[in-house]
Amino acid sequence: MAKTISRVFIFLVIVLGAFNWIGYTITSMTGGDKKASTGGKVEVTPEFGEGLYWGKGRCFTCHSMGDRGSAVRGPNHGQFGAKFPLAMGSRAVERAKERAKKTGKKFTAVDYLVESMADPGAYVVEGYKNEMAVVFAPPISLGLDEIKAIVAYLQTQGGDLDIEAINKPSEVSQQFYTRIQAAAAAGGGDPAKGKEVYEDNCSDCHKLGGEGGEVGPDLTVAGKKGLKFITDAILKPAQEITPGFETHVLVAKDGRKTVGLKTRDEGNEIDITKADGDVVTITKDKVKELTIDKNASVMPEDLPEALTVKDFQDVLSFMMMQKGK
Ligand code: HEC
Ligand code: HEC
Repeated sequence: MAKTISRVFIFLVIVLGAFNWIGYTITSMTGGDKKASTGGKVEVTPEFGEGLYWGKGRCFTCHSMGDRGSAVRGPNHGQFGAKFPLAMGSRAVERAKERAKKTGKKFTAVDYLVESMADPGAYVVEGYKNEMAVVFAPPISLGLDEIKAIVAYLQTQGGDLDIEAINKPSEVSQQFYTRIQAAAAAGGGDPAKGKEVYEDNCSDCHKLGGEGGEVGPDLTVAGKKGLKFITDAILKPAQEITPGFETHVLVAKDGRKTVGLKTRDEGNEIDITKADGDVVTITKDKVKELTIDKNASVMPEDLPEALTVKDFQDVLSFMMMQKGK
C-alpha cells in the first residue's frame, strides 16, 4: 500500500510538473508572458488582461476581437457584422440585464463576464456548443487575478470599465471567485468534473448538504480543513481517523468476524455498519471480542488507484469548495 501511495505521489508531481512546463512553453511561445515585465506580479488592468487574452489565456484560439484574430469556435468578442452588433463590454451589460429580468435577481455585467469563465457550461451562448475551455484548469491555468484582468480587458471592449466591481465583487461574482481559487489551490482541478468524480466514488459513504450515505463523516464543511487535510484523508485514510469513526473488529463466539463502524450500542445489541453500508446487528451475549483497529479505516485505502490524477485533482478542488454557507 505504501508503495501505491508513493507511486501516486510521484506520478502527481511529474504530471503537475509537465502541466506547468507545457503552460510555460506555450506562454513564452505566444509572447503572452507579460509577467516578466511586471516583475512576476499580475496587475488587474485592461492592458495586462489584453496580454493574457492574446497569450497565456489562449482565448484567441477560439475567439476573435472584431477583425483582430481569425478564430470562430467561440463568439466574436468585438463588434462584428450583423451577428455581433455589440462588442463584449456592452454585450455583457445587455446579457446581464436579460438574466436579471429572467431570474428576478441582481446580476451585473461583471457577474456575466466572470461567470463566462468560472462556469462556462451554466449558460451556453445560443448557436454555440458547450466547448469553452476551463481556463483555470491545466493547461491554461489562469489564476484569479489573471481572470480579473481579462474581465477588465473585456469590459473596455465597447463598454465601461468598473474596476471597483471587479475588485469588490458582488455576492454572485464572489461565489465564482471562490470556485476559481479552490481550483487553483488544488493544482488547477475542475470542480464541476470533481462533483461527478465525487458522486461516482464518495457519495455512497458521505453526506454533503444533506444528501448521500451515512457510513463516513458529513463533508459539508470539509473544505475548511484545507487542502493537505483532504489530500491525506483520501490518500492515507488510516493515518488520522476521524473521531467517532474508528474501525471496529467484532469477533462472534461462532468465529464470524465483522469489520466496520460501531453505529449503535444499546441494551443487549450492537450494530456494526460495514463499508458497503450493510448493518450487522448482534446480541452482546454472542460477542467474543470487540476491538478497535487503529491501523485501518473503513474508508478504502485503494481509492486513489481507482482515480486518475486528473480525477484526483478535480475531486480535491470540489472538496475545497465545501465550506458550508
Ligand atoms: C476551446 C475554445 C475556447 C477557449 C480557449 C475560450 N473560449 Fe470562451 N467560449 C467558447 C465557446 C464555444 C463559447 C460559447 C459557448 C458558451 O457560452 O459556453 C464561449 C463563450 C465565451 C464568453 C461569452 C460570450 C458571449 O457572447 O456572451 C466569454 C465572455 C468568453 N467565452 C471568454 C473567454 C475568455 C476570456 C477566454 C480566455 C481566457 C476564453 N473564452 C477561452 C470557446 C472558448
Ligand atoms: C466505503 C466508504 C467510504 C468511501 C467510498 C469514501 N469514504 Fe471518506 N471516509 C469514510 C470513513 C468511514 C471515514 C472516517 C474514518 C477516517 O477518518 O478514515 C472517512 C473520512 C473521510 C474524510 C475525513 C473527514 C473528516 O472530517 O475528518 C474525508 C475528507 C473523506 N473521507 C473524503 C472522501 C472522498 C473525497 C471520497 C471519494 C474519493 C471518500 N471519502 C470515499 C468512508 C468512505
